[in-house]
Amino acid sequence: MHDSLVDAARGVRARAHAPYSGFQVGAALESEDGEVYLGCNVENASYGLTVCAERSAISAAVAAGKKRFRRIVIATEAEQPTPPCGACRQVLAEFGPDLVVDSVTPTMVAHWTLRELLPSAFAHRPFA
Ligand code: THU
Repeated sequence: MHDSLVDAARGVRARAHAPYSGFQVGAALESEDGEVYLGCNVENASYGLTVCAERSAISAAVAAGKKRFRRIVIATEAEQPTPPCGACRQVLAEFGPDLVVDSVTPTMVAHWTLRELLPSAFAHRPFA
């Protein structure tokens, strides 16, 4: 089935700034109202300042006024589909545990919920 969120994640992956790792990542985040927000990893010569694709997409969405999300698609060209790193899981969890997290390579797809990827996430208050 054609999946435009997958196309969007693959498209933005090409814009990643990853000269140090060579590992380009694209993320496409769908808000509850059906809009799509894009992110890619942005590396830095001071390596620890790198921003992952997932957090970059969250920032774009929040800056556009969105805080409720349905699904994120992560696109890489790794051998296996890669889930978000631990830091990104916590940042995604800020907006609720029901987010669908899909990851694609050119030939494979993986599917999770954020609750599966980060059980017992830290939060100041319980999720509704
Ligand atoms: N990276 C992401 O953008 N998302 C992830 O979930 C994992 C890692 C980036 C960070 C760095 O630029 C490169 O991939 C290699 O770790």
